[in-house]
Amino acid sequence: MRILVVGGGAREHAIVHALSRSELRPEILAAPGNPGIASLARLEAVRADDVEALVTLAVERSVDLVIVGPEAPLVLGLADRLETAGIAVFGPTAAAARLEGSKAFAKDFMERHGIPTAAYRTFTSDRHAEAVDFVRNHGAPIVIKASGLAAGKGAVVCESVDDALRAVDAMLLDRSFGEAGDFVVVESFLRGEEASLFAVCDGERYVLLSSAQDHKRIGEDDTGPNTGGMGAYAPAPVATETVLEAARRRVIEPTLRGMRAEGAPYRGVLYVGLMIDGEDISVVEYNCRFGDPEAQVVLPLLASDPVELFHRAATGRLAGYEPRNGDGAAACVVLAAEGYPGPVSKGRPIAGLGSTRPHVAVYHAGTAIDGEGRTVTSGGRVLTVSASGSDLAEALDRAYEGVANLSFEGMQFRRDIGRKGLRRLGLAP
Ligand code: AMP
Ligand code: GLY
Repeated sequence: MRILVVGGGAREHAIVHALSRSELRPEILAAPGNPGIASLARLEAVRADDVEALVTLAVERSVDLVIVGPEAPLVLGLADRLETAGIAVFGPTAAAARLEGSKAFAKDFMERHGIPTAAYRTFTSDRHAEAVDFVRNHGAPIVIKASGLAAGKGAVVCESVDDALRAVDAMLLDRSFGEAGDFVVVESFLRGEEASLFAVCDGERYVLLSSAQDHKRIGEDDTGPNTGGMGAYAPAPVATETVLEAARRRVIEPTLRGMRAEGAPYRGVLYVGLMIDGEDISVVEYNCRFGDPEAQVVLPLLASDPVELFHRAATGRLAGYEPRNGDGAAACVVLAAEGYPGPVSKGRPIAGLGSTRPHVAVYHAGTAIDGEGRTVTSGGRVLTVSASGSDLAEALDRAYEGVANLSFEGMQFRRDIGRKGLRRLGLAP
Protein backbone atom coordinates (compact mmCIF):
# COMPACT_ATOMS: atom_id res chain seq x y z
CA MET A 1 0.00 0.00 0.00
CA ARG A 2 1.24 3.48 -0.87
CA ILE A 3 0.30 6.16 1.68
CA LEU A 4 0.70 9.94 1.40
CA VAL A 5 0.89 11.84 4.69
CA VAL A 6 0.10 15.55 4.37
CA GLY A 7 1.89 17.94 6.71
CA GLY A 8 5.34 18.63 8.08
CA GLY A 9 5.18 18.93 11.86
CA ALA A 10 5.95 16.67 14.79
CA ARG A 11 2.39 15.32 14.60
CA GLU A 12 3.01 14.15 11.05
CA HIS A 13 6.41 12.73 12.05
CA ALA A 14 4.58 10.69 14.74
CA ILE A 15 2.01 9.53 12.17
CA VAL A 16 4.75 8.48 9.73
CA HIS A 17 6.67 6.78 12.54
CA ALA A 18 3.57 4.77 13.52
CA LEU A 19 2.94 3.79 9.88
CA SER A 20 6.58 2.78 9.43
CA ARG A 21 6.24 0.19 12.19
CA SER A 22 3.23 -1.49 10.54
CA GLU A 23 3.58 -5.12 9.54
CA LEU A 24 1.78 -4.15 6.32
CA ARG A 25 5.01 -2.36 5.33
CA PRO A 26 3.47 0.56 3.47
CA GLU A 27 5.44 2.75 1.12
CA ILE A 28 5.20 6.23 2.65
CA LEU A 29 5.31 9.63 0.95
CA ALA A 30 5.09 12.91 2.87
CA ALA A 31 4.21 16.38 1.60
CA PRO A 32 6.11 18.42 2.51
CA GLY A 33 7.46 16.38 5.45
CA ASN A 34 10.54 17.56 7.35
CA PRO A 35 14.16 16.46 7.94
CA GLY A 36 13.06 13.95 10.61
CA ILE A 37 10.39 12.41 8.39
CA ALA A 38 12.95 12.13 5.58
CA SER A 39 14.51 9.04 7.20
CA LEU A 40 11.17 7.17 7.07
CA ALA A 41 9.40 8.48 3.99
CA ARG A 42 10.01 9.96 0.57
CA LEU A 43 9.52 13.74 0.75
CA GLU A 44 7.49 15.54 -1.91
CA ALA A 45 7.98 19.30 -2.22
CA VAL A 46 4.30 20.23 -2.04
CA ARG A 47 2.88 22.55 0.60
CA ALA A 48 0.29 21.12 3.01
CA ASP A 49 -2.32 23.71 1.99
CA ASP A 50 -1.86 23.47 -1.79
CA VAL A 51 -4.96 21.37 -2.47
CA GLU A 52 -4.56 21.28 -6.27
CA ALA A 53 -0.95 20.14 -6.13
CA LEU A 54 -1.70 17.53 -3.44
CA VAL A 55 -4.49 15.98 -5.54
CA THR A 56 -2.23 15.93 -8.61
CA LEU A 57 0.55 14.32 -6.57
CA ALA A 58 -1.76 11.64 -5.14
CA VAL A 59 -3.11 10.80 -8.62
CA GLU A 60 0.29 10.80 -10.35
CA ARG A 61 1.87 8.61 -7.69
CA SER A 62 -1.14 6.23 -7.58
CA VAL A 63 -1.49 6.70 -3.84
CA ASP A 64 -3.87 4.25 -2.12
CA LEU A 65 -4.53 6.28 1.01
CA VAL A 66 -3.99 9.91 2.00
CA ILE A 67 -3.72 10.78 5.70
CA VAL A 68 -4.15 14.50 6.34
CA GLY A 69 -2.38 15.93 9.40
CA PRO A 70 -3.36 19.62 9.63
CA GLU A 71 -6.79 21.27 9.48
CA ALA A 72 -6.17 23.88 6.77
CA PRO A 73 -6.31 21.60 3.70
CA LEU A 74 -9.36 19.78 5.11
CA VAL A 75 -11.25 23.05 5.57
CA LEU A 76 -10.23 23.93 1.98
CA GLY A 77 -11.79 20.70 0.67
CA LEU A 78 -8.82 18.37 0.12
CA ALA A 79 -10.82 15.30 1.21
CA ASP A 80 -13.67 16.17 -1.18
CA ARG A 81 -11.27 16.50 -4.08
CA LEU A 82 -9.51 13.22 -3.29
CA GLU A 83 -12.84 11.41 -2.98
CA THR A 84 -13.84 12.71 -6.41
CA ALA A 85 -10.52 11.42 -7.73
CA GLY A 86 -11.30 8.00 -6.23
CA ILE A 87 -8.54 8.06 -3.61
CA ALA A 88 -9.24 6.93 -0.04
CA VAL A 89 -8.65 9.72 2.44
CA PHE A 90 -8.39 9.79 6.22
CA GLY A 91 -9.81 13.21 7.04
CA PRO A 92 -13.24 14.86 6.83
CA THR A 93 -14.83 16.71 3.90
CA ALA A 94 -14.97 20.52 4.00
CA ALA A 95 -18.58 20.35 5.19
CA ALA A 96 -17.63 18.07 8.10
CA ALA A 97 -14.43 20.02 8.86
CA ARG A 98 -16.64 23.04 9.68
CA LEU A 99 -16.74 21.58 13.20
CA GLU A 100 -13.27 23.08 13.50
CA GLY A 101 -13.26 25.67 10.70
CA SER A 102 -16.23 27.59 12.06
CA LYS A 103 -16.75 27.88 15.79
CA ALA A 104 -20.08 29.61 15.05
CA PHE A 105 -21.17 26.48 13.11
CA ALA A 106 -19.87 24.16 15.85
CA LYS A 107 -21.71 26.03 18.62
CA ASP A 108 -25.00 26.13 16.67
CA PHE A 109 -24.56 22.45 15.79
CA MET A 110 -24.09 21.53 19.47
CA GLU A 111 -27.17 23.54 20.39
CA ARG A 112 -29.24 21.81 17.67
CA HIS A 113 -28.20 18.39 18.92
CA GLY A 114 -28.26 18.95 22.67
CA ILE A 115 -24.49 18.46 23.09
CA PRO A 116 -23.18 20.03 26.32
CA THR A 117 -21.09 23.19 25.75
CA ALA A 118 -20.71 26.67 27.28
CA ALA A 119 -23.63 29.12 26.79
CA TYR A 120 -22.79 31.54 23.96
CA ARG A 121 -23.86 34.23 21.50
CA THR A 122 -22.42 34.92 18.05
CA PHE A 123 -21.86 38.47 16.70
CA THR A 124 -20.81 40.07 13.40
CA SER A 125 -19.16 43.50 13.01
CA ASP A 126 -22.48 45.23 12.26
CA ARG A 127 -23.62 43.96 15.67
CA HIS A 128 -20.64 45.36 17.58
CA ALA A 129 -22.80 47.43 19.95
CA GLU A 130 -24.84 44.35 20.86
CA ALA A 131 -21.66 42.41 21.54
CA VAL A 132 -20.50 45.15 23.91
CA ASP A 133 -23.87 45.13 25.75
CA PHE A 134 -23.80 41.36 25.97
CA VAL A 135 -20.29 41.32 27.46
CA ARG A 136 -21.18 44.07 29.99
CA ASN A 137 -24.33 42.25 31.10
CA HIS A 138 -22.61 38.89 31.29
CA GLY A 139 -19.58 40.05 33.28
CA ALA A 140 -16.20 38.31 33.69
CA PRO A 141 -14.71 35.77 33.43
CA ILE A 142 -15.81 35.38 29.82
CA VAL A 143 -14.28 33.95 26.65
CA ILE A 144 -14.07 35.73 23.27
CA LYS A 145 -13.34 33.63 20.18
CA ALA A 146 -12.73 34.37 16.53
CA SER A 147 -14.97 31.90 14.69
CA GLY A 148 -12.57 30.94 11.88
CA LEU A 149 -9.18 29.22 11.85
CA ALA A 150 -6.64 31.18 13.87
CA ALA A 151 -3.77 28.72 14.44
CA GLY A 152 -4.82 28.06 18.03
CA LYS A 153 -4.65 31.74 18.94
CA GLY A 154 -8.29 32.74 18.34
CA ALA A 155 -9.62 32.23 21.88
CA VAL A 156 -9.10 34.86 24.57
CA VAL A 157 -10.02 33.92 28.12
CA CYS A 158 -10.80 37.27 29.80
CA GLU A 159 -10.59 37.85 33.54
CA SER A 160 -12.18 41.31 33.29
CA VAL A 161 -14.90 43.01 31.26
CA ASP A 162 -12.32 45.55 30.00
CA ASP A 163 -10.12 42.77 28.63
CA ALA A 164 -13.16 41.21 26.99
CA LEU A 165 -14.20 44.49 25.35
CA ARG A 166 -10.66 44.94 24.03
CA ALA A 167 -10.78 41.46 22.52
CA VAL A 168 -14.18 42.15 20.93
CA ASP A 169 -12.89 45.41 19.44
CA ALA A 170 -9.72 43.77 18.17
CA MET A 171 -11.66 41.03 16.39
CA LEU A 172 -14.74 42.92 15.13
CA LEU A 173 -13.37 46.43 14.54
CA ASP A 174 -9.59 46.14 14.07
CA ARG A 175 -9.94 42.84 12.19
CA SER A 176 -6.91 41.46 14.01
CA PHE A 177 -7.84 37.92 12.91
CA GLY A 178 -8.89 38.90 9.38
CA GLU A 179 -11.78 36.85 8.00
CA ALA A 180 -11.52 34.42 10.91
CA GLY A 181 -13.04 37.24 13.00
CA ASP A 182 -16.04 37.90 10.70
CA PHE A 183 -18.02 36.05 13.34
CA VAL A 184 -17.11 36.29 17.00
CA VAL A 185 -18.36 33.79 19.57
CA VAL A 186 -18.74 35.12 23.10
CA GLU A 187 -19.13 32.33 25.64
CA SER A 188 -19.28 31.60 29.33
CA PHE A 189 -16.11 30.57 31.11
CA LEU A 190 -16.00 26.88 32.00
CA ARG A 191 -14.32 25.69 35.18
CA GLY A 192 -12.50 22.38 35.39
CA GLU A 193 -9.64 20.47 33.82
CA GLU A 194 -9.32 19.80 30.10
CA ALA A 195 -8.66 16.55 28.28
CA SER A 196 -8.44 15.72 24.59
CA LEU A 197 -10.40 12.78 23.17
CA PHE A 198 -9.75 11.19 19.78
CA ALA A 199 -12.52 9.32 17.99
CA VAL A 200 -11.47 7.66 14.74
CA CYS A 201 -14.61 7.72 12.57
CA ASP A 202 -15.67 6.08 9.31
CA GLY A 203 -18.74 8.26 8.64
CA GLU A 204 -20.97 6.12 10.80
CA ARG A 205 -19.04 4.20 13.43
CA TYR A 206 -16.13 5.22 15.62
CA VAL A 207 -13.46 3.84 17.88
CA LEU A 208 -11.90 5.78 20.72
CA LEU A 209 -8.12 6.04 21.03
CA SER A 210 -6.38 6.94 24.28
CA SER A 211 -7.33 10.22 25.95
CA ALA A 212 -4.56 12.78 26.42
CA GLN A 213 -3.83 16.08 28.10
CA ASP A 214 -2.09 19.00 26.42
CA HIS A 215 -0.22 21.89 28.10
CA LYS A 216 -1.23 25.01 26.19
CA ARG A 217 0.54 27.75 28.12
CA ILE A 218 4.20 28.56 27.55
CA GLY A 219 5.03 28.76 31.26
CA GLU A 220 5.16 26.26 34.09
CA ASP A 221 2.03 25.97 36.27
CA ASP A 222 0.01 27.01 33.21
CA THR A 223 1.16 30.63 33.11
CA GLY A 224 1.89 33.01 30.22
CA PRO A 225 0.46 33.10 26.72
CA ASN A 226 -1.16 30.20 24.87
CA THR A 227 0.96 28.16 22.47
CA GLY A 228 0.24 25.37 20.02
CA GLY A 229 0.98 22.97 22.93
CA MET A 230 4.14 22.45 25.00
CA GLY A 231 3.78 18.79 25.94
CA ALA A 232 1.26 16.05 26.51
CA TYR A 233 0.67 12.73 28.17
CA ALA A 234 -1.67 9.83 27.61
CA PRO A 235 -3.91 8.50 28.98
CA ALA A 236 -5.26 11.44 31.00
CA PRO A 237 -6.37 10.23 34.46
CA VAL A 238 -8.92 13.10 34.61
CA ALA A 239 -10.81 11.31 31.82
CA THR A 240 -12.11 8.51 34.06
CA GLU A 241 -14.24 5.61 32.78
CA THR A 242 -17.33 7.53 33.91
CA VAL A 243 -16.24 10.64 32.01
CA LEU A 244 -15.42 8.62 28.89
CA GLU A 245 -18.77 6.85 29.00
CA ALA A 246 -20.56 10.22 29.33
CA ALA A 247 -18.47 11.64 26.47
CA ARG A 248 -19.40 8.73 24.20
CA ARG A 249 -23.10 8.98 24.95
CA ARG A 250 -23.55 12.75 25.23
CA VAL A 251 -20.89 14.09 22.81
CA ILE A 252 -19.33 11.68 20.32
CA GLU A 253 -22.38 9.64 19.36
CA PRO A 254 -24.74 12.65 18.99
CA THR A 255 -22.02 14.46 17.02
CA LEU A 256 -21.66 11.62 14.51
CA ARG A 257 -25.45 11.11 14.29
CA GLY A 258 -25.97 14.86 13.88
CA MET A 259 -23.36 15.24 11.15
CA ARG A 260 -24.86 12.31 9.25
CA ALA A 261 -28.38 13.72 9.63
CA GLU A 262 -27.15 17.08 8.31
CA GLY A 263 -25.65 15.47 5.22
CA ALA A 264 -22.00 15.76 6.29
CA PRO A 265 -20.98 12.34 7.64
CA TYR A 266 -17.73 12.58 9.59
CA ARG A 267 -14.74 10.53 8.49
CA GLY A 268 -11.28 10.90 9.99
CA VAL A 269 -10.29 11.73 13.52
CA LEU A 270 -12.69 13.81 15.58
CA TYR A 271 -10.77 15.59 18.34
CA VAL A 272 -13.00 16.66 21.20
CA GLY A 273 -11.54 19.19 23.64
CA LEU A 274 -13.50 18.42 26.79
CA MET A 275 -13.77 20.44 30.00
CA ILE A 276 -14.25 18.10 32.94
CA ASP A 277 -15.53 19.28 36.30
CA GLY A 278 -16.12 16.22 38.47
CA GLU A 279 -18.62 14.25 36.40
CA ASP A 280 -19.77 17.33 34.49
CA ILE A 281 -18.55 17.53 30.90
CA SER A 282 -18.69 20.30 28.26
CA VAL A 283 -17.19 20.58 24.80
CA VAL A 284 -14.61 23.40 24.64
CA GLU A 285 -13.89 22.83 20.96
CA TYR A 286 -13.90 20.31 18.17
CA ASN A 287 -10.91 19.80 15.88
CA CYS A 288 -11.03 17.84 12.65
CA ARG A 289 -7.55 16.23 13.00
CA PHE A 290 -5.14 14.83 15.55
CA GLY A 291 -3.81 17.17 18.22
CA ASP A 292 -0.22 18.35 18.13
CA PRO A 293 1.42 17.37 20.55
CA GLU A 294 -1.27 14.84 21.54
CA ALA A 295 -0.64 12.65 18.47
CA GLN A 296 2.95 12.24 19.67
CA VAL A 297 1.64 10.34 22.74
CA VAL A 298 -1.64 8.81 21.52
CA LEU A 299 -0.12 7.05 18.50
CA PRO A 300 2.81 5.44 20.36
CA LEU A 301 0.22 3.93 22.73
CA LEU A 302 -1.76 2.36 19.90
CA ALA A 303 -1.13 -1.39 20.05
CA SER A 304 -3.08 -2.22 16.86
CA ASP A 305 -1.85 -1.74 13.32
CA PRO A 306 -2.21 1.95 12.40
CA VAL A 307 -2.39 1.27 8.65
CA GLU A 308 -5.33 -1.04 9.17
CA LEU A 309 -7.04 1.46 11.49
CA PHE A 310 -6.68 4.46 9.17
CA HIS A 311 -7.53 2.49 6.03
CA ARG A 312 -10.64 0.97 7.59
CA ALA A 313 -11.81 4.41 8.75
CA ALA A 314 -11.12 5.98 5.35
CA THR A 315 -13.10 3.27 3.55
CA GLY A 316 -16.10 2.99 5.93
CA ARG A 317 -15.09 -0.36 7.40
CA LEU A 318 -14.80 0.14 11.15
CA ALA A 319 -17.73 -2.22 11.88
CA GLY A 320 -16.59 -5.03 14.15
CA TYR A 321 -13.12 -3.54 14.56
CA GLU A 322 -11.75 -2.52 17.95
CA PRO A 323 -8.16 -1.28 18.16
CA ARG A 324 -6.16 -2.02 21.29
CA ASN A 325 -4.41 0.62 23.34
CA GLY A 326 -1.26 -0.42 25.17
CA ASP A 327 -1.40 -0.70 28.96
CA GLY A 328 1.31 1.78 29.81
CA ALA A 329 1.57 5.55 29.36
CA ALA A 330 3.30 7.96 27.04
CA ALA A 331 4.54 11.49 27.62
CA CYS A 332 6.12 14.13 25.44
CA VAL A 333 7.97 17.41 25.91
CA VAL A 334 8.09 20.10 23.22
CA LEU A 335 11.41 21.91 22.72
CA ALA A 336 10.70 25.42 21.48
CA ALA A 337 12.86 28.19 20.08
CA GLU A 338 13.78 31.32 21.98
CA GLY A 339 10.95 33.84 21.76
CA TYR A 340 8.17 31.30 21.11
CA PRO A 341 5.15 31.84 21.00
CA GLY A 342 6.25 35.23 19.64
CA PRO A 343 8.68 35.72 16.74
CA VAL A 344 11.66 33.36 16.95
CA SER A 345 15.22 33.31 15.76
CA LYS A 346 16.07 30.52 13.30
CA GLY A 347 19.14 28.73 12.01
CA ARG A 348 20.53 27.59 15.39
CA PRO A 349 22.35 24.24 15.12
CA ILE A 350 20.78 21.40 17.13
CA ALA A 351 23.12 19.12 19.09
CA GLY A 352 22.37 15.57 20.20
CA LEU A 353 20.06 14.36 17.42
CA GLY A 354 22.34 11.42 16.70
CA SER A 355 21.98 9.74 20.07
CA THR A 356 19.06 7.38 20.54
CA ARG A 357 17.51 5.82 23.62
CA PRO A 358 15.17 2.87 24.02
CA HIS A 359 11.47 3.86 24.35
CA VAL A 360 12.22 7.45 23.26
CA ALA A 361 11.43 9.07 19.90
CA VAL A 362 12.43 12.55 18.79
CA TYR A 363 9.91 14.06 16.38
CA HIS A 364 10.88 17.00 14.20
CA ALA A 365 8.75 20.10 13.63
CA GLY A 366 10.63 23.38 13.04
CA THR A 367 13.91 21.95 11.74
CA ALA A 368 15.82 22.42 8.49
CA ILE A 369 19.13 21.39 6.96
CA ASP A 370 21.45 24.37 6.43
CA GLY A 371 24.04 24.96 3.71
CA GLU A 372 26.65 23.05 5.71
CA GLY A 373 24.40 20.01 6.12
CA ARG A 374 23.67 20.69 9.77
CA THR A 375 20.19 20.28 11.28
CA VAL A 376 19.15 23.71 12.54
CA THR A 377 16.07 25.32 14.06
CA SER A 378 13.55 26.80 11.61
CA GLY A 379 10.36 27.43 13.56
CA GLY A 380 8.68 27.99 16.93
CA ARG A 381 8.14 24.44 18.10
CA VAL A 382 11.36 22.70 17.04
CA LEU A 383 11.22 19.11 18.35
CA THR A 384 8.96 16.86 20.42
CA VAL A 385 10.65 14.27 22.63
CA SER A 386 8.18 11.45 23.24
CA ALA A 387 8.61 8.38 25.45
CA SER A 388 6.55 5.46 26.61
CA GLY A 389 6.75 3.54 29.86
CA SER A 390 4.87 1.16 32.11
CA ASP A 391 3.27 4.16 33.83
CA LEU A 392 3.20 7.94 33.56
CA ALA A 393 6.12 8.45 35.94
CA GLU A 394 8.38 6.17 33.89
CA ALA A 395 7.28 7.74 30.60
CA LEU A 396 8.01 11.23 31.94
CA ASP A 397 11.42 10.22 33.30
CA ARG A 398 12.38 8.75 29.94
CA ALA A 399 11.10 11.79 28.02
CA TYR A 400 13.11 14.18 30.19
CA GLU A 401 16.21 11.97 29.89
CA GLY A 402 15.75 12.28 26.13
CA VAL A 403 15.46 16.06 26.46
CA ALA A 404 18.74 16.15 28.40
CA ASN A 405 20.56 14.80 25.31
CA LEU A 406 19.41 17.65 23.09
CA SER A 407 20.35 21.29 22.95
CA PHE A 408 20.31 24.41 20.83
CA GLU A 409 20.88 28.02 21.74
CA GLY A 410 17.79 29.55 23.38
CA MET A 411 16.00 26.17 23.75
CA GLN A 412 13.00 26.39 26.08
CA PHE A 413 10.68 23.71 27.43
CA ARG A 414 8.36 23.12 30.37
CA ARG A 415 9.69 21.06 33.25
CA ASP A 416 6.24 20.31 34.69
CA ILE A 417 4.68 18.23 31.89
CA GLY A 418 2.40 15.57 33.35
CA ARG A 419 2.42 16.95 36.89
CA LYS A 420 -1.38 17.22 37.03
CA GLY A 421 -1.63 13.61 35.91
CA LEU A 422 0.92 12.47 38.53
CA ARG A 423 -1.08 14.30 41.21
CA ARG A 424 -4.30 12.60 40.20
CA LEU A 425 -2.52 9.27 40.38
CA GLY A 426 -1.19 10.16 43.84
CA LEU A 427 2.39 10.14 42.53
CA ALA A 428 3.24 13.82 43.10
CA PRO A 429 2.49 16.31 45.89
P1 AMP B 1 -10.19 27.04 21.59
O1 AMP B 1 -9.53 27.92 20.58
O2 AMP B 1 -11.67 27.05 21.54
O3 AMP B 1 -9.60 25.68 21.53
O4 AMP B 1 -9.72 27.54 23.02
C1 AMP B 1 -8.36 27.55 23.38
C2 AMP B 1 -8.21 27.34 24.87
O5 AMP B 1 -8.88 28.39 25.59
C3 AMP B 1 -8.89 26.07 25.36
O6 AMP B 1 -8.09 24.96 25.22
C4 AMP B 1 -9.14 26.43 26.81
O7 AMP B 1 -7.98 26.25 27.58
C5 AMP B 1 -9.48 27.87 26.75
N1 AMP B 1 -10.95 28.03 26.65
C6 AMP B 1 -11.68 28.10 25.51
N2 AMP B 1 -12.99 28.22 25.79
C7 AMP B 1 -13.11 28.21 27.14
C8 AMP B 1 -14.22 28.33 28.03
N3 AMP B 1 -15.48 28.49 27.61
N4 AMP B 1 -13.95 28.29 29.35
C9 AMP B 1 -12.69 28.16 29.81
N5 AMP B 1 -11.60 28.06 29.01
C10 AMP B 1 -11.80 28.09 27.69
N1 GLY C 1 -2.80 20.54 20.99
C1 GLY C 1 -3.87 21.37 20.58
C2 GLY C 1 -4.20 21.26 19.16
O1 GLY C 1 -3.63 20.47 18.43
O2 GLY C 1 -5.10 21.98 18.73
